[in-house]
Amino acid sequence: MDVITNWLGHDKWESKESDTTPENVLEVENVSKLYETENNSVLAVNDVSFQIPHGSFVGIMGASGCGKTTLLNLIATIDKPTNGTIRISGQNIVDIPDEATAEFRRRHLGFVFQEYNLLEILTIYENIALALTMKEVSKESIRPTIQNLSEKLDISAILDKFPYEVSGGQRQRCACARAIVGNPDIILADEPTGALDSHAARQLLDTLAMLCREYSATILMVTHDVMAASYCDRILFMKDGEIKAALNRKQENKQTFFADILKKIELIEGESHDVFEVVNP
Ligand SMILES: Nc1ncnc2c1ncn2[C@@H]1O[C@H](COP(=O)(O)OP(=O)(O)O)[C@@H](O)[C@H]1O
Ligand SMILES: [Mg+2]
Repeated sequence: MDVITNWLGHDKWESKESDTTPENVLEVENVSKLYETENNSVLAVNDVSFQIPHGSFVGIMGASGCGKTTLLNLIATIDKPTNGTIRISGQNIVDIPDEATAEFRRRHLGFVFQEYNLLEILTIYENIALALTMKEVSKESIRPTIQNLSEKLDISAILDKFPYEVSGGQRQRCACARAIVGNPDIILADEPTGALDSHAARQLLDTLAMLCREYSATILMVTHDVMAASYCDRILFMKDGEIKAALNRKQENKQTFFADILKKIELIEGESHDVFEVVNP
Protein backbone atom coordinates (compact mmCIF):
# COMPACT_ATOMS: atom_id res chain seq x y z
CA MET A 1 0.00 0.00 0.00
CA ASP A 2 3.00 2.31 0.57
CA VAL A 3 3.84 2.16 -3.09
CA ILE A 4 0.32 3.17 -3.91
CA THR A 5 0.31 5.98 -1.37
CA ASN A 6 3.58 7.33 -2.70
CA TRP A 7 2.33 7.12 -6.22
CA LEU A 8 -0.95 8.83 -5.46
CA GLY A 9 0.41 11.53 -3.20
CA HIS A 10 -1.37 12.78 -0.13
CA ASP A 11 -3.49 15.57 -1.45
CA LYS A 12 -7.12 15.63 -0.55
CA TRP A 13 -9.66 15.92 -3.26
CA GLU A 14 -11.87 18.97 -3.03
CA SER A 15 -15.41 18.76 -4.25
CA LYS A 16 -16.57 21.47 -6.61
CA GLU A 17 -19.14 23.58 -4.83
CA SER A 18 -22.08 24.40 -6.98
CA ASP A 19 -25.64 25.54 -6.27
CA THR A 20 -27.04 24.42 -9.57
CA THR A 21 -26.79 21.10 -11.36
CA PRO A 22 -24.42 21.66 -14.27
CA GLU A 23 -25.71 20.97 -17.76
CA ASN A 24 -24.62 17.82 -19.56
CA VAL A 25 -21.89 18.30 -22.14
CA LEU A 26 -22.24 14.73 -23.35
CA GLU A 27 -25.37 12.57 -23.51
CA VAL A 28 -25.04 9.01 -24.77
CA GLU A 29 -28.37 7.25 -25.26
CA ASN A 30 -28.83 3.56 -26.06
CA VAL A 31 -25.71 3.46 -28.21
CA SER A 32 -24.60 0.21 -29.84
CA LYS A 33 -21.88 -0.61 -32.34
CA LEU A 34 -21.91 -3.85 -34.29
CA TYR A 35 -18.83 -4.72 -36.34
CA GLU A 36 -19.67 -7.13 -39.09
CA THR A 37 -17.06 -8.92 -41.11
CA GLU A 38 -17.60 -11.74 -43.62
CA ASN A 39 -17.80 -14.58 -41.13
CA ASN A 40 -17.96 -12.81 -37.83
CA SER A 41 -19.90 -10.11 -35.99
CA VAL A 42 -18.87 -8.36 -32.78
CA LEU A 43 -21.20 -6.24 -30.68
CA ALA A 44 -18.39 -3.98 -29.44
CA VAL A 45 -20.72 -1.51 -27.69
CA ASN A 46 -24.04 -2.83 -26.39
CA ASP A 47 -26.86 -0.40 -25.54
CA VAL A 48 -24.78 2.08 -23.57
CA SER A 49 -26.31 5.17 -21.93
CA PHE A 50 -24.69 7.80 -19.72
CA GLN A 51 -24.29 11.56 -19.29
CA ILE A 52 -21.33 13.74 -18.48
CA PRO A 53 -21.98 17.07 -16.75
CA HIS A 54 -19.92 20.15 -17.55
CA GLY A 55 -16.64 20.35 -15.63
CA SER A 56 -16.36 16.71 -14.64
CA PHE A 57 -13.52 14.24 -15.08
CA VAL A 58 -15.05 10.90 -15.97
CA GLY A 59 -13.19 7.65 -16.46
CA ILE A 60 -14.27 4.57 -18.39
CA MET A 61 -12.59 1.43 -17.11
CA GLY A 62 -12.63 -2.05 -18.50
CA ALA A 63 -10.40 -4.91 -19.58
CA SER A 64 -8.77 -4.94 -23.00
CA GLY A 65 -11.30 -5.68 -25.74
CA CYS A 66 -14.39 -4.59 -23.76
CA GLY A 67 -15.20 -1.78 -26.19
CA LYS A 68 -13.63 1.33 -24.63
CA THR A 69 -11.89 2.63 -27.74
CA THR A 70 -14.89 1.85 -29.91
CA LEU A 71 -17.12 3.88 -27.59
CA LEU A 72 -14.65 6.77 -27.51
CA ASN A 73 -14.37 6.74 -31.32
CA LEU A 74 -18.16 6.98 -31.60
CA ILE A 75 -18.15 10.02 -29.32
CA ALA A 76 -15.20 11.45 -31.26
CA THR A 77 -17.16 11.25 -34.57
CA ILE A 78 -14.41 8.98 -35.90
CA ASP A 79 -16.92 6.13 -36.22
CA LYS A 80 -20.73 5.97 -36.36
CA PRO A 81 -22.94 3.95 -34.00
CA THR A 82 -25.21 1.21 -35.35
CA ASN A 83 -27.94 2.46 -33.01
CA GLY A 84 -28.50 5.26 -30.55
CA THR A 85 -28.00 8.97 -30.06
CA ILE A 86 -24.91 10.91 -28.95
CA ARG A 87 -25.33 14.59 -28.09
CA ILE A 88 -22.44 16.94 -27.51
CA SER A 89 -23.59 20.30 -26.12
CA GLY A 90 -27.08 19.43 -27.30
CA GLN A 91 -26.13 18.57 -30.90
CA ASN A 92 -26.81 15.05 -32.12
CA ILE A 93 -23.42 14.18 -33.61
CA VAL A 94 -24.68 10.99 -35.23
CA ASP A 95 -26.43 13.20 -37.82
CA ILE A 96 -23.26 15.06 -38.83
CA PRO A 97 -22.37 14.17 -42.44
CA ASP A 98 -18.99 12.47 -42.86
CA GLU A 99 -17.48 15.43 -44.71
CA ALA A 100 -18.26 17.72 -41.76
CA THR A 101 -16.88 15.59 -38.93
CA ALA A 102 -13.30 16.90 -39.15
CA GLU A 103 -14.54 20.46 -38.77
CA PHE A 104 -16.76 19.40 -35.85
CA ARG A 105 -13.79 17.77 -34.11
CA ARG A 106 -11.66 20.89 -34.53
CA ARG A 107 -14.36 23.14 -33.11
CA HIS A 108 -15.75 21.04 -30.30
CA LEU A 109 -13.32 18.32 -29.21
CA GLY A 110 -9.85 18.00 -27.73
CA PHE A 111 -7.82 14.78 -27.90
CA VAL A 112 -5.09 13.17 -25.81
CA PHE A 113 -4.17 9.74 -27.11
CA GLN A 114 -1.52 7.33 -25.92
CA GLU A 115 0.75 8.06 -28.88
CA TYR A 116 0.87 10.01 -32.13
CA ASN A 117 -0.42 13.13 -30.43
CA LEU A 118 1.82 15.71 -31.98
CA LEU A 119 2.96 16.55 -35.48
CA GLU A 120 6.67 15.76 -35.59
CA ILE A 121 7.51 18.40 -38.21
CA LEU A 122 6.21 21.22 -36.02
CA THR A 123 7.70 22.61 -32.82
CA ILE A 124 5.78 22.19 -29.58
CA TYR A 125 4.69 25.83 -29.85
CA GLU A 126 3.48 25.33 -33.42
CA ASN A 127 1.63 22.17 -32.45
CA ILE A 128 -0.30 24.07 -29.79
CA ALA A 129 -0.79 27.12 -32.02
CA LEU A 130 -2.23 24.93 -34.76
CA ALA A 131 -5.25 24.19 -32.58
CA LEU A 132 -5.84 27.94 -32.28
CA THR A 133 -5.30 28.93 -35.90
CA MET A 134 -8.08 26.55 -36.86
CA LYS A 135 -10.39 28.62 -34.69
CA GLU A 136 -11.14 32.29 -35.17
CA VAL A 137 -8.66 33.56 -32.60
CA SER A 138 -6.88 36.88 -33.16
CA LYS A 139 -3.21 36.55 -34.11
CA GLU A 140 -2.10 38.86 -31.29
CA SER A 141 -3.72 36.73 -28.61
CA ILE A 142 -2.15 33.42 -29.71
CA ARG A 143 1.31 33.91 -28.17
CA PRO A 144 0.18 35.18 -24.74
CA THR A 145 -2.48 32.47 -24.56
CA ILE A 146 0.08 29.75 -25.24
CA GLN A 147 2.63 31.27 -22.88
CA ASN A 148 0.16 31.43 -19.99
CA LEU A 149 -1.01 27.90 -20.52
CA SER A 150 2.54 26.58 -20.92
CA GLU A 151 3.52 27.97 -17.54
CA LYS A 152 0.61 26.12 -15.93
CA LEU A 153 1.60 22.89 -17.67
CA ASP A 154 5.33 23.29 -17.01
CA ILE A 155 6.32 23.24 -20.68
CA SER A 156 7.46 26.86 -21.17
CA ALA A 157 11.09 25.81 -21.55
CA ILE A 158 10.46 23.38 -24.41
CA LEU A 159 8.14 25.40 -26.65
CA ASP A 160 10.78 25.77 -29.38
CA LYS A 161 11.78 22.11 -29.37
CA PHE A 162 10.41 19.43 -31.67
CA PRO A 163 8.36 16.57 -30.20
CA TYR A 164 11.18 14.04 -30.71
CA GLU A 165 13.49 16.21 -28.58
CA VAL A 166 11.36 16.03 -25.41
CA SER A 167 10.29 13.28 -22.99
CA GLY A 168 7.11 11.22 -23.24
CA GLY A 169 5.64 13.04 -20.24
CA GLN A 170 6.40 16.43 -21.76
CA ARG A 171 4.84 15.37 -25.05
CA GLN A 172 1.65 14.34 -23.27
CA ARG A 173 1.49 17.64 -21.38
CA CYS A 174 1.89 19.41 -24.74
CA ALA A 175 -0.96 17.27 -26.05
CA CYS A 176 -3.00 18.50 -23.06
CA ALA A 177 -2.11 22.09 -23.92
CA ARG A 178 -3.18 21.55 -27.50
CA ALA A 179 -6.38 19.84 -26.37
CA ILE A 180 -7.45 22.62 -23.98
CA VAL A 181 -6.20 25.74 -25.78
CA GLY A 182 -9.13 25.93 -28.16
CA ASN A 183 -11.61 25.66 -25.27
CA PRO A 184 -13.31 22.47 -26.49
CA ASP A 185 -16.68 21.21 -25.23
CA ILE A 186 -15.01 17.99 -24.09
CA ILE A 187 -11.53 16.44 -24.02
CA LEU A 188 -11.34 12.77 -24.99
CA ALA A 189 -8.37 10.81 -23.70
CA ASP A 190 -7.68 7.18 -24.67
CA GLU A 191 -5.18 5.51 -22.30
CA PRO A 192 -3.20 8.77 -22.05
CA THR A 193 -0.80 7.36 -19.44
CA GLY A 194 -0.32 4.05 -21.23
CA ALA A 195 3.19 4.75 -22.50
CA LEU A 196 4.45 6.74 -19.49
CA ASP A 197 6.48 5.80 -16.41
CA SER A 198 4.69 6.27 -13.09
CA HIS A 199 6.15 9.71 -12.34
CA ALA A 200 5.22 11.12 -15.74
CA ALA A 201 1.83 9.41 -15.53
CA ARG A 202 1.09 11.05 -12.20
CA GLN A 203 2.13 14.44 -13.55
CA LEU A 204 -0.15 14.00 -16.54
CA LEU A 205 -3.10 12.98 -14.36
CA ASP A 206 -2.50 15.97 -12.08
CA THR A 207 -2.50 18.11 -15.21
CA LEU A 208 -5.81 16.69 -16.44
CA ALA A 209 -7.38 17.17 -13.00
CA MET A 210 -6.04 20.75 -12.96
CA LEU A 211 -7.61 21.45 -16.37
CA CYS A 212 -10.99 20.47 -14.90
CA ARG A 213 -10.53 22.53 -11.77
CA GLU A 214 -9.00 25.67 -13.20
CA TYR A 215 -10.14 25.72 -16.82
CA SER A 216 -13.57 24.09 -16.27
CA ALA A 217 -12.62 21.41 -18.78
CA THR A 218 -14.85 18.37 -19.17
CA ILE A 219 -12.79 15.21 -19.64
CA LEU A 220 -13.67 11.66 -20.63
CA MET A 221 -10.71 9.33 -20.12
CA VAL A 222 -10.53 5.68 -21.05
CA THR A 223 -8.11 3.60 -19.00
CA HIS A 224 -7.48 0.11 -17.69
CA ASP A 225 -5.18 1.52 -15.01
CA VAL A 226 -6.76 1.77 -11.53
CA MET A 227 -4.24 4.41 -10.50
CA ALA A 228 -5.21 6.65 -13.41
CA ALA A 229 -8.90 6.08 -12.72
CA SER A 230 -8.48 7.18 -9.09
CA TYR A 231 -7.94 10.76 -10.34
CA CYS A 232 -11.45 10.90 -11.83
CA ASP A 233 -14.67 12.21 -10.24
CA ARG A 234 -16.70 9.32 -11.59
CA ILE A 235 -15.90 5.93 -13.08
CA LEU A 236 -18.02 3.92 -15.48
CA PHE A 237 -17.15 0.22 -15.55
CA MET A 238 -17.41 -1.47 -18.92
CA LYS A 239 -17.51 -5.18 -19.65
CA ASP A 240 -18.39 -6.99 -22.87
CA GLY A 241 -19.56 -3.76 -24.49
CA GLU A 242 -21.88 -2.78 -21.65
CA ILE A 243 -21.63 -0.35 -18.76
CA LYS A 244 -22.07 -2.56 -15.73
CA ALA A 245 -21.65 -0.09 -12.88
CA ALA A 246 -20.66 3.43 -11.92
CA LEU A 247 -18.77 4.86 -8.97
CA ASN A 248 -18.74 8.48 -7.81
CA ARG A 249 -15.90 10.02 -5.87
CA LYS A 250 -17.38 11.96 -3.01
CA GLN A 251 -15.26 13.65 -0.35
CA GLU A 252 -12.82 10.77 -0.18
CA ASN A 253 -9.14 11.05 -1.02
CA LYS A 254 -7.48 9.24 -3.94
CA GLN A 255 -6.34 6.31 -1.78
CA THR A 256 -9.85 5.54 -0.57
CA PHE A 257 -11.28 5.96 -4.05
CA PHE A 258 -8.52 3.68 -5.39
CA ALA A 259 -9.55 0.99 -2.90
CA ASP A 260 -13.24 1.45 -3.81
CA ILE A 261 -12.42 1.07 -7.52
CA LEU A 262 -10.51 -2.16 -6.83
CA LYS A 263 -13.44 -3.53 -4.84
CA LYS A 264 -15.85 -2.67 -7.63
CA ILE A 265 -13.63 -4.33 -10.25
CA GLU A 266 -13.43 -7.45 -8.13
CA LEU A 267 -17.22 -7.47 -7.90
CA ILE A 268 -17.64 -7.07 -11.66
CA GLU A 269 -14.76 -9.15 -12.95
CA GLY A 270 -14.54 -11.76 -10.21
CA GLU A 271 -11.26 -13.65 -10.21
CA SER A 272 -10.22 -12.20 -13.56
CA HIS A 273 -9.56 -8.72 -12.14
CA ASP A 274 -5.82 -9.19 -12.69
CA VAL A 275 -6.48 -8.07 -16.28
CA PHE A 276 -6.24 -4.55 -14.90
CA GLU A 277 -3.06 -2.71 -14.21
CA VAL A 278 -3.07 -2.06 -10.50
CA VAL A 279 0.29 -0.38 -10.08
CA ASN A 280 2.13 1.25 -12.92
CA PRO A 281 5.61 -0.10 -13.66
N1 LIG B 1 -12.77 -2.10 -36.84
C1 LIG B 1 -13.15 -3.22 -36.19
N2 LIG B 1 -13.66 -4.27 -36.86
C2 LIG B 1 -14.06 -5.39 -36.23
N3 LIG B 1 -13.99 -5.56 -34.88
C3 LIG B 1 -13.48 -4.56 -34.15
C4 LIG B 1 -13.01 -3.34 -34.76
N4 LIG B 1 -12.56 -2.52 -33.77
C5 LIG B 1 -12.71 -3.21 -32.61
N5 LIG B 1 -13.26 -4.42 -32.83
C6 LIG B 1 -13.60 -5.42 -31.80
O1 LIG B 1 -14.47 -4.80 -30.88
C7 LIG B 1 -14.17 -5.20 -29.54
C8 LIG B 1 -13.84 -3.99 -28.69
O2 LIG B 1 -12.59 -3.42 -29.11
P1 LIG B 1 -11.99 -2.06 -28.51
O3 LIG B 1 -13.05 -1.04 -28.55
O4 LIG B 1 -10.74 -1.77 -29.21
O5 LIG B 1 -11.71 -2.50 -27.00
P2 LIG B 1 -10.79 -1.81 -25.88
O6 LIG B 1 -10.45 -0.42 -26.31
O7 LIG B 1 -11.63 -1.85 -24.64
O8 LIG B 1 -9.57 -2.66 -25.73
C9 LIG B 1 -13.02 -6.20 -29.65
O9 LIG B 1 -13.57 -7.49 -29.68
C10 LIG B 1 -12.39 -5.85 -30.98
O10 LIG B 1 -11.79 -6.99 -31.55
MG1 LIG C 1 -8.55 0.57 -26.51
